[in-house]
Amino acid sequence: MTSPKTVLVVGGAGYIGSHMVWLLGRKGVDVVTLDNLSSGHRDAVLHGEFVHGDIADRQILDKVFRKYKFDAVMHFASFIQVGESMQDPAKYYQNNVVNTLNLLNAMCAHGVDKFIFSSTAAIFGEPEYSPIDESHPKRPINPYGWSKLMVEQALADYDRAYGLKSVCLRYFNAAGAHPDGLLGERHEPETHLIPLVLQAASGRRPHISVFGRDYDTPDGTCIRDYIHILDLAEAHWLALQYLQSGGESSAFNLGNGNGYSVESVIQTARRVTGETIPVQEGRRRLGDPARLVANASKIKQELGWQPAYFNLDTIVEHAWQWEYSHNPRFAKAS
Ligand code: UFG
Repeated sequence: MTSPKTVLVVGGAGYIGSHMVWLLGRKGVDVVTLDNLSSGHRDAVLHGEFVHGDIADRQILDKVFRKYKFDAVMHFASFIQVGESMQDPAKYYQNNVVNTLNLLNAMCAHGVDKFIFSSTAAIFGEPEYSPIDESHPKRPINPYGWSKLMVEQALADYDRAYGLKSVCLRYFNAAGAHPDGLLGERHEPETHLIPLVLQAASGRRPHISVFGRDYDTPDGTCIRDYIHILDLAEAHWLALQYLQSGGESSAFNLGNGNGYSVESVIQTARRVTGETIPVQEGRRRLGDPARLVANASKIKQELGWQPAYFNLDTIVEHAWQWEYSHNPRFAKAS
């Protein structure tokens, strides 16, 4: 497999992007991060150069592509909240679709022809079977999912017409943190289950709300497929090498293939943290499918991906280490 020399990471200051930038550094790749810091953190970019800017700004894109010679572009700069996308679809279509097209057009204009795209399980909509493979029908049920599917469609057309090669990685539930405590999840506001449960464990929140116990699952709570952030980053690295070695455009589902219920995540967090973790019963959240579990056979077979941290305890342990080290309450105690 051939490795790229220089990569542009758009959204490299965010949760997933920052872990990716760190991994690229470990692999000896030169990185330029382009991020508008709307939700990312400058101090999370641990490698390479940093450019503060927005992909909505064509002049910045032009400047960056003129200055550096990139082998490939990775794009993590999206809005990701399903609920918000229902309230404010324009925000999602503008950034996730229109601004992404700006980026793709700049790539084409500057002869960069390899692209790794952060897609999502949300493109499949309500699952018709489980686990979900790549050929599962794609019928998003929210603007977030649509915005990602639209880009997947654009990428197929850009390959046919302009020769832009891409890999779409459809994430299930990204979770965990860097095992050495270097990086972790810092969304504001936080909406994801594992960090919220751990904030309830650390006392930053009074409780965790369980969004519905009347789903058609063994314990009535929703089942998700949690994938460790470094396993996710490793999959991107394999995808980059694949494109760099002349691979055709492709799409892969990315999860562990293990489903864990909300209740079992809370139980795991209690075990890992030794804290009680108060629970409040809540109503169903709009647009939540009962079960989302990936069939990741394709990426395992074709790119040789193997998750290293597939155990939920490990994922929660790493996330807890991050929460613990960033909680003022524990800082005072130590
Ligand atoms: N949940 C709770 N309480 C909370 C937060 C979440 O019970 O306070 C539940 C949710 O209802 C869901 C599960 O925990 O059943 C996981 O919720 P997350 O918000 O952590 O993750 P989602 O599965 O909703 O979303 C993830 C990504 C999205 C992506 C989606 C694909 O974060 O970006 O998967 O379906 F779109």
